[in-house]
Amino acid sequence: MLKGKKTLIRPLEEEDIDRLYEWVNDQEVNLWASGSWPLSTLLNRELLRDRYLQESADGQRFAVLNEKNVLIGTIGFRDFNIPARSASLFISIGDKNFWGKGYGTDALITFVRFLFSQWNLHRLSLDTWDGNTRAIKAYEKAGFQVEGRQREARYILGKYHDAILMGLLKKDFE
Ligand SMILES: CC(C)(COP(=O)(O)OP(=O)(O)OC[C@H]1O[C@@H](n2cnc3c(N)ncnc32)[C@H](O)[C@@H]1OP(=O)(O)O)[C@@H](O)C(=O)NCCC(=O)NCCS
Repeated sequence: MLKGKKTLIRPLEEEDIDRLYEWVNDQEVNLWASGSWPLSTLLNRELLRDRYLQESADGQRFAVLNEKNVLIGTIGFRDFNIPARSASLFISIGDKNFWGKGYGTDALITFVRFLFSQWNLHRLSLDTWDGNTRAIKAYEKAGFQVEGRQREARYILGKYHDAILMGLLKKDFE
């Protein structure tokens, strides 16, 4: 269990699947998280079990809990590149009651610290889109910098948006 100031991070368990199922099929969460919706109804519990509970050499997902040990979201990494010691980070606070209250930033800082200190990663990358100001602010508060912008790379609610590429080096985090 990783402990932040407001959040706890632990491995995902079978009992978490129902909440994850609600969130991945919630259009608003999905809109902010990936910028593409609606989500396929084929994404059923079995697929979620494979996606969230199976360990993969390429990445892992974890549960984000609040101070009362209640599951509020997930965080993880993928695209693990061994020689470069880099990976891509992703986070989704699926419970909307916990948006904009500092939980995302706290989980990011806690998880990034874990990846830099325990996994000895050198660099983390992530991407979002220009309309997700809340995510960009949270990433910046955790130390990420905007490194690039892909013009009109996303199409969201009938409009093109730029993809925002962000990165963080271990030495900058420390
Ligand atoms: C993105 C996410 C992880 C951020 O976590 P969070 O707990 O909501 O964010 P925090 O409260 O830690 O920080 C958000 C910052 O944005 C600001 N903010 C909050 N709501 C906002 C809004 N609607 N628009 C713009 N800024 C907003 C906050 O004031 C805060 O900045 P401040 O501390 O300088 O005041 C979370 O909202 C989330 O998972 N959302 C849905 C999925 C998603 O967007 N995932 C990221 C995909 S790239």
